[in-house]
This record gives sequence, C-alpha cells and structure tokens, in this order.
Amino acid sequence: MADQSDTPIKARGLEGVIALESELSSIDGQQGELVYRGYNINDLAANASFEEVVYLLWNGELPTEAQLDTLTERLQSERALPAPVLDLLRATPDTAHPMAVVRTAVSALGLYDDEADTATPEANRRKASRLLAQIPTIIAAFSRIRSGHEPVEPLDTHSTAYNFLYMLNGEAPGEAAERTFDVCLVLHADHGLNASTFTSRVIGSTLSDMYSAVTGAIGALKGPLHGGANREVMRMLLDIDEQGADPADYVRERLANKERIMGFGHRVYKTMDPRAAILRDLVKDLSEERDARKWYDYSMAILNTMKEEKGMDPNVDFFSASTYYMMGLDPDLFTPIFALSRTTGWTAHLLEQWSDNRLIRPRAEYVGATGKSVTPISER
Ligand code: COA
Repeated sequence: MADQSDTPIKARGLEGVIALESELSSIDGQQGELVYRGYNINDLAANASFEEVVYLLWNGELPTEAQLDTLTERLQSERALPAPVLDLLRATPDTAHPMAVVRTAVSALGLYDDEADTATPEANRRKASRLLAQIPTIIAAFSRIRSGHEPVEPLDTHSTAYNFLYMLNGEAPGEAAERTFDVCLVLHADHGLNASTFTSRVIGSTLSDMYSAVTGAIGALKGPLHGGANREVMRMLLDIDEQGADPADYVRERLANKERIMGFGHRVYKTMDPRAAILRDLVKDLSEERDARKWYDYSMAILNTMKEEKGMDPNVDFFSASTYYMMGLDPDLFTPIFALSRTTGWTAHLLEQWSDNRLIRPRAEYVGATGKSVTPISER
C-alpha cells in the first residue's frame, strides 16, 4: 500500500475529506436526508422516543420493550450529581456562560467517577449513560441556582425530556411540552462527523478518557458557527421584535454589511436540512397554540429573504430557537440543550472509535519563515 503521508491532500477546514468510517449516521447533503443507523430522521422523529434513539445509536438497533426498560431505568438511576459538583455549580458566577458551566461541570464529573480511567467497553458504556443522565441535571441545577432558586432533585421516573423540564421549572410539564422537547432531542442526537463529534473522536483517538473527550466536544459546540448558532438566532428574532423592524429589510441590511445570518448555511447540506423542516412545522403549531404567531412569521420572512438573496436554506438551529423560546426556555440554555442531546452522538462515536482505534493526526502545510539563525538576546 502507498504511504499516504508521502502524498498529503490539502483541504482547508478538512472540507470534503473522509477521515474515518462510521455506522452511526449518514447525511445526504443534496437530497436533504439524515439517517441514524439506517432509519430516516423523519421516521424516528414521528415514531421513536429519545431513549429509543439513544439505544439505537449506542447499540446498532432499536430496542425491544425489555431493552428499553433496562436503558431507561439505568438513566433514571444515574441522574443525581455528586455533591461536590453541585457545590461547584453553587459557587459558579450567575453571569457565567451556561456552556462554560456545562463544560466545567462535565470535566469535574470525571473527578468523582471511579471508572473515569477504566477503558473497558463495559465501563465506557456505563460512563456514557452517566454522562447522558447527569448533563440534564447540571443544566437545570445551574439555571435554578443563578435565578435564586434551589435546584430540583431529579426524578427516578419518567423520560429524559419530562425530567429535564420538571427539574428546570419545578413543575410537571404537560404532555405536549414533553413530546415537543423529546422530538427536539431526537433531532439533535447525532449528525455525522460535525466539529464537536470530530473533536470528541480526536481526543478519544489518543486513548484519553470519555470525560476529557466530552468536555472537549462541549467546547467545540459552544462556538457560534456550530451549536452556539441557535442562541444567536433568538437574539436576531428578539432584536427584530424590539425594533419593530421588517424582517426582510433587517436581513438585507445585515447581508449588505457582510454579516452572516445565523441558522443558515451548512458545510454538508446544499438544500433544506430535514431537521429544520420538522422544526418548522413544530414552530407553526406552537405559535398558533400560544397565540405567538409573530415568531413563525418573522422566521418565514427571514427564510424567504435568505433564499432570494443568497439561495441559502436554514439549518437545525434556525427553527429550534423559536421552538425552545415558545416553550419558555432561556435563550442561553438552547446550546446546552443541544449538548444534552448530542452527548448521545459524542459517546456513540467514542465507543465506535475505541472499537477500532487509530490516532487522528492530520498535518499542516508549513508556510512560515525558513533559514533563520538565533541572534544572541543582547543583540536583538
Ligand atoms: N449568512 C450569510 N452568508 C453565509 C452564511 C450565512 N449564515 N453562511 C455562509 N455564507 C456565505 C459565506 O459568506 C461565503 O460567501 P463568500 O464565498 O461570498 O465568501 C459562502 O456562503 C460559503 O461560506 P463558508 O463559510 O465558506 O461555508 P462553510 O461551509 O465554511 O460554513 C457554516 C458553514 C455553517 C459555518 C456557515 O454556513 C455559517 O457560518 N452559518 C451560520 C452559523 C450557523 O448557523 N451554524 C450552525 C450550523 S448547523
């Protein structure tokens, strides 16, 4: 076999590069299709719960009822945080960026897990469930602490969606809210080799541990070009509302100033992200139910203007913003909620990486100075 390192390929931003093989999710950017382990996202969003999707991504097939019960009970029993991590959240400034809080708390969770550095497949699976069970508790506890309330202890019953909304608000969510939130979790669970998943696999490929890899992935998701976009979308919608601006003019003005419109464009999709289409319908229903039609109207005006002006389509972050907002969630929690769901994909990718590991280590083309020699410091 030819030594690939002798003929390196140069691709800025690794665009178009296949870095590894994965059985987890596939994206058809031309057709606008997303598939988790052979199941179309539209089918999963309509017919499977988040926990079923977690089982699918971690194990390769949808669960039987007995398998689902075992997974659900495991997640329910792991939700409480170690006391020092709760203390850490209490000591965190109220003004901290919630993604920085989740990143720090997830890193801290590793300090209190006896299995943190046990690298067997069984221990890694247990850590994946602990992370998925505890990240919702971190987000809800911080949200309550910063607004002057006591954290609500997690339930050892109910779905991830129900328990999260319950811990956040201190009251039982309605059936519709639980179902809408559950669909959002299904839609965000995995998405090919996106930047945060790649980060988790790069860290995993050094044979570092799961807490390190998920902490790094959270850092990557925080950026506005990735998961941070949903918060920026809501800022834009609120700005339009406060200014009483015409959404089409607002977008055109920003484009004229060479600004990006968050929630549009994608490295892989060249058409509508299928997750955006599902969320668009949810936003429509929610905005009618809640007599808040303006969020849907602003969004559609922005969508049409972006299509006319740039030929661009929305991605998942565009409609998730107004969905979460109409559910009463704080805009700066939107990206942590994305992290909550994507923990499924990050950990599934880590399990896959470690089942056949190869160090991920690309190269850079050196374009700096050459041929210099050191002048003694006294002469510089
Ligand atoms: N608004 C306006 N113009 C955009 C744009 C946006 N959201 N996204 C891309 N473009 C333009 C770029 O300015 C560039 O134009 P140019 O060639 O005239 O300079 C062209 O489209 C290609 O953009 P590029 O940044 O090279 O594409 P990419 O594949 O590197 O970027 C994203 C993909 C997602 C980072 C990019 O579309 C973006 O910044 N979107 C907004 C953030 C967002 O919603 N992220 C969530 C992704 S799920």
